[in-house]
Amino acid sequence: MKSLAVLHASQLITLAGTKGPRAGAAMHELGIIRDGGMLIRDGKIDSVGPSAEIEKKSSGAEIIDAGGRVVLPGFVDAHTHLVFAGNRLEDFERRARGESYEQISKAGGGISYTVEKTRAASEHDLLVQARKHAEWFLRCGTTTIEAKSGYGLTLEDELKILRVMGSLNEQSPLEIVPTFLGAHAVPREMDADEYIDLVIGQMLPRIATEKLAEFCDVFCERGYFDVGQSRRILTAAKKLGLKVRIHADQLSNSGGAGLAAELEATTADHLEKTDEQGIAALKSAAVQPVLLPGSVYALGSFDFPRARKMIQAGLAVVIATDFNPGSSPTPSMPMILSLACAHMKMSPAEAITAATINAAYSLDRGSQIGSLERGKLASFSLFDCEDYRETAYWFGMPQTHSVYVNGERVSRSGGL
Ligand code: NIG
Ligand code: FE
Repeated sequence: MKSLAVLHASQLITLAGTKGPRAGAAMHELGIIRDGGMLIRDGKIDSVGPSAEIEKKSSGAEIIDAGGRVVLPGFVDAHTHLVFAGNRLEDFERRARGESYEQISKAGGGISYTVEKTRAASEHDLLVQARKHAEWFLRCGTTTIEAKSGYGLTLEDELKILRVMGSLNEQSPLEIVPTFLGAHAVPREMDADEYIDLVIGQMLPRIATEKLAEFCDVFCERGYFDVGQSRRILTAAKKLGLKVRIHADQLSNSGGAGLAAELEATTADHLEKTDEQGIAALKSAAVQPVLLPGSVYALGSFDFPRARKMIQAGLAVVIATDFNPGSSPTPSMPMILSLACAHMKMSPAEAITAATINAAYSLDRGSQIGSLERGKLASFSLFDCEDYRETAYWFGMPQTHSVYVNGERVSRSGGL
């Protein structure tokens, strides 16, 4: 049996606590152990406690001296669009000239541009690019991500993207939770009803039979899929056993939060334009909001979602990167922590809770990851700082010292 002892963390941020996602005041409680340590056996956490106690139990264990650094659970990124070809540098420049996301999309950029590139790419090429992105996530201290399809928009291309996720999950230490987002946009060659029939009639049954995704998502937005269309798709997905996430109220307050509540979705994501009624609806159905300040920032907007109102309403808030080539080209959870504190007025403790334990529950993995507690997987990172608040405070600079997945080191500053 391989054992490993992490000793002398200035702060071991355990996030230990009650089962279930944390809401309200509980989002502040990080379960910090000063001069903390952790004993790991066969990739799982055996015990956590003061270093002196852990040291006594660790004869024969390989020692990792954290040297007064902060130790955090691996970040769990609950909203990414991991698999795509190319980039969107043209959109980026257009935005810098003042054009909006919707204008750029009409002028030939946007999701359709990436769809064209992704359709033309082979499964192998997509895997190579996704592997590079997986490395980026690990380097930032993220050890599990949710990943959405949605840049294929044909049966074969959506299957290709989901297969890439499956292969990457086997090849990379990064854990990937797949979501089918066939309803990301209506492809140029079809009208909406024709495409929805394809999603419901062919894509969903095939994906469910081959178990290629755990969740189904829809971009519920004017110009994409309205509430009625989103309801049809997500109801069909639920019947096939998929769980539901929704891109809701990103660009307009279009009823996405209400639909998420009605369908008892696991999460409603974005919510930049959601009003108090929408927040109350989410609360009534215990839907977790996934807030994505990276996309607000990268689109040059200041319309951040109302995190404080959501926390006050008792919602178990999650924050995520929304990693994608168009609206949020960042894999960095520390950057998201910074944005959450500076622009959504979350405390650093709330932001860390939202990026770890709450995110883990939103992916149905709350009993395996998201905190450093006995029995959980030993996925964690060391940060080059002494106080956990520094992970959100210093920004634009990597502070990740080393990253571990299931007790194995997968990344270290300066390379492995
Ligand atoms: O979450 N909103 C829809 N999807 C992405 C953007 C995708 C793209 O622009 O390529 C998002 O922001
Ligand atoms: Fe998204």
